[in-house]
Amino acid sequence: MSNRMWGGRFAEGPDAIMEEINASIDFDQKLYKQDIAGSKAHVAMLAKQGIVSDEDATTITSGLDSILAEIEEGKFVFSRALEDIHMNIEARLAELIGPTAGRLHTARSRNDQVATDFRLWVRDSMDQLEAQLTDLLQALSEKAQKHAGDVMPGFTHLQSAQPVTFGHHLLAYVEMFARDRSRVVDARKRMNECPLGSAALAGTSFPIDRTQTAQALGFDRPTANSLDGVSDRDFVLEALADASICAMHLSRLAEEIVIWCSAQFGFIKLSDKFSTGSSIMPQKKNPDAAELIRAKTGRIYGALNALLVMMKGLPLTYSKDMQEDKEQAFDALPNLSLALAAMTGMIRDLEPNTDVLKQAAGSGYSTATDLADWCVRVLGMPFRNAHHVTGAIVKLAVDKGVELHELTLEEMQGVEPQITNDIYNVLTVENSVRSRVSYGGTSPQNVQEQAARWLKELS
Ligand code: ARG
Repeated sequence: MSNRMWGGRFAEGPDAIMEEINASIDFDQKLYKQDIAGSKAHVAMLAKQGIVSDEDATTITSGLDSILAEIEEGKFVFSRALEDIHMNIEARLAELIGPTAGRLHTARSRNDQVATDFRLWVRDSMDQLEAQLTDLLQALSEKAQKHAGDVMPGFTHLQSAQPVTFGHHLLAYVEMFARDRSRVVDARKRMNECPLGSAALAGTSFPIDRTQTAQALGFDRPTANSLDGVSDRDFVLEALADASICAMHLSRLAEEIVIWCSAQFGFIKLSDKFSTGSSIMPQKKNPDAAELIRAKTGRIYGALNALLVMMKGLPLTYSKDMQEDKEQAFDALPNLSLALAAMTGMIRDLEPNTDVLKQAAGSGYSTATDLADWCVRVLGMPFRNAHHVTGAIVKLAVDKGVELHELTLEEMQGVEPQITNDIYNVLTVENSVRSRVSYGGTSPQNVQEQAARWLKELS
């Protein structure tokens, strides 16, 4: 049997393999809510414009409501022969209300229908990401506030560089995730235009009101060009690009968590709720959630890449290639959402080992820059000379196998005779971080202020 919806000119039905490659119902059934909402908005507009009768519109609308209930109750039978969610619903509508169902598709095509449904789905995902990012920002800012004064080593090249505070480190991620959130908000604004009414590609001869359907579906306006309306997938590409950057940030933090909770670092304790044990090694507590967050980045980048490649060679307007857009987004965006939820839980629960952090903050000659700065400030040396003097003092400490503050004054004066006892004040990690008062620097006072600013902004 040929297809009930478009089989007029076909003598034979499709080959089984054709049906398999062509059908999208196995995954696009996720769009049932959006599809029904779109159809209801469309038929209401058709009635208002006198394109269908009010009576037909009422019949169609109540039929659509029954289908929504059937799907939500798990009673709806999805059929591959009917290809996709649009035709499954329309065919069921015909079973329920008879030939009137056929009026729903006036002045519409599956091309503008799928573009609208999918936009609505992506828009919901963006709204969810925004809310979840806000939650993560809150968790990070609270933790940062609590540990505004706890010192830890700051790294470059994963080598101890200068002491910073744990709160400062967390607030760096607040900046990143806040940019992620603003990207999501920004993309959502750009994507909030309604393609419905672009019809197949050229628009329609019926006197439709696209502004009405756009408003009914929560869009700011209709898309301005029908060819673009049916063939644009920027909205999902942008969502995936934003998701990729966010996943990259999550992955960096996850990587730090993995390193920090290793026995060799011992910087943090993860809660039992966000770690797992080993089936063979009883002593182990593994940071699986962090590892999985790190891993999920791959499939999110993959989705963006798959879609960019899928789109790049497509002439205007719609091509069936575009059906492949959905699985990528359906995989990537919910996985990002899961990763965000797991990261937020982990951050809320984790505790820094402040003693270990402090010990580590002081090792590796991390206050050498403070020593050089002291020579500049107190002795009036040019920084390059001070750098040289400090290098010589560090070398002395390395040779003796001691930390900077363990050198005697005489030893330091052997390198630079003008050094006084006051130098010891800048060699402690507490004084080092306390002195970093420049805007954006790591001083506990700054960190308190920044954490308070974020918490205020987020509340
Ligand atoms: N299932 C299709 C998709 O996801 C719907 C649009 C089909 N349009 C068409 N002209 N065959 O892209």
